[in-house]
Amino acid sequence: MATSLPVEIDRARIAELSARESRRLDDRTPGSRALYERARHSLAGGVASSYQARAPWPIYLERGQGARVWDVDGNELLDFHNGFGSMVQGHAHPAITRAVNARIELGTHFAAPTEDAIVVGEELARRWGLPRWRYVNSGSEATMDAIRIARAATGRDTIVKIFGSYHGHHDYVMVSIGVEYERIGDRFALESLPYGMGIPQAVVDLTVPVPFNDAEAMERRIERLVEEGRPPACVIMEPAMMNLGVVLPEPGYLEAVREITRKHGVLLIFDEVKTGLCIAAGGAVERFGVTPDLVTLAKALGGGLPSGAIGGTEEAFELVEAGKVVQVGTYNGNPLSMAAARANLLEVMTPEAYARLDALNDHILRGCQAVIEKFSFPGYAVGIGSKGCVTFSPERITDYASFKANQDAELCELAWLYNVNRGIFMTPGREEEWTLSITHSFDDCDTFVAAFAEMAGDLTA
Ligand SMILES: Cc1ncc(COP(=O)(O)O)c(C=O)c1O
Repeated sequence: MATSLPVEIDRARIAELSARESRRLDDRTPGSRALYERARHSLAGGVASSYQARAPWPIYLERGQGARVWDVDGNELLDFHNGFGSMVQGHAHPAITRAVNARIELGTHFAAPTEDAIVVGEELARRWGLPRWRYVNSGSEATMDAIRIARAATGRDTIVKIFGSYHGHHDYVMVSIGVEYERIGDRFALESLPYGMGIPQAVVDLTVPVPFNDAEAMERRIERLVEEGRPPACVIMEPAMMNLGVVLPEPGYLEAVREITRKHGVLLIFDEVKTGLCIAAGGAVERFGVTPDLVTLAKALGGGLPSGAIGGTEEAFELVEAGKVVQVGTYNGNPLSMAAARANLLEVMTPEAYARLDALNDHILRGCQAVIEKFSFPGYAVGIGSKGCVTFSPERITDYASFKANQDAELCELAWLYNVNRGIFMTPGREEEWTLSITHSFDDCDTFVAAFAEMAGDLTA
């Protein structure tokens, strides 16, 4: 943490620098502008997913290699966005490319099991210490099916989630995310609020949020739900929050959650769509030493191909094996995705890869923290494994309420503009963390730190 009191950042200066950097980016991206003008006529908002949208136009990419991507204007960018944290292997990794090319020659889809799916399941079981696995095609499908399994296993409908956590775009979990500070509610009785339109109120009411890093609030809320005759089937949570920058669990918190859920017969689901394969070989389960009943994976699993997985105990999967929970999907275990995942797990994301990610992250975090201290900048660097960020807040963020109370959206936007104009691609317009890949170098990390230092200097001069 900074040793001297943080300086007050002049809002007018943020606005002035944002205008300058926006103009600069607009001038460098005429090709993206032209593609956007064309795309708007066929794609809603000119993009494939609303999370790819950006005003005045998105940056359209052409290709990626290792730690770099190139946009349609030929701008070369170091990729710290990495496909929302999917490309921890770097782009076009030779081992994954080889595996995918070999599979293409043999046919890419049968909707019948292949040996690769078994190899991937064996390796995931080894890494997570959970014996049973099934596949899906995205993180959303993984969390949706895991919740269904938990509901079936317990015969209960209500579910508990962490306020502010994103678990995908299906109705069960599109609740109590991205809400203004005033609407969060009391920490012992947080509000269930739909995230966007089109979510049935009946589904919203089944999803009950609790604050992160607060075992007491979780237990009290579960006890109240029991009293009200609607005990929860599961707690679904990210073991480290990855959608508010990075928020790590306080010591003892995950252990307490494990104890509370067990005591109340509630299944614990760790949503490791972001942490899994990015913070350790066995994800948060390995890193924090707490094993849930079910775990969900996606993103980095497929090495750049769509995939997802649900892992669990034998008991949790009993009803799936009995055919009573219908866990299905045409593309589940798709041979192309499984070939990529096999190469990813066995050849790419090895113990050496994780040691490298830890070293790189340590380097970039120390670099960012040194900048914060040099300029008495309001913020702190935080991260784990391949993930990290500078949280622009003088206070430490431990949950959604403290995040929202201290959020500085304008500064985040300015940081994004500084980065992109200095050759660094970060997740557009969101308070997202960086994801390093094993192909990043220490120099690449220094480039990131230098861009941050330039912004900090310009804001505090
Ligand atoms: C923690 C978490 N769970 C689930 C999802 C949903 O994954 P997908 O976008 O693959 O459906 C995300 C996506 O960002 C996520 O961050």
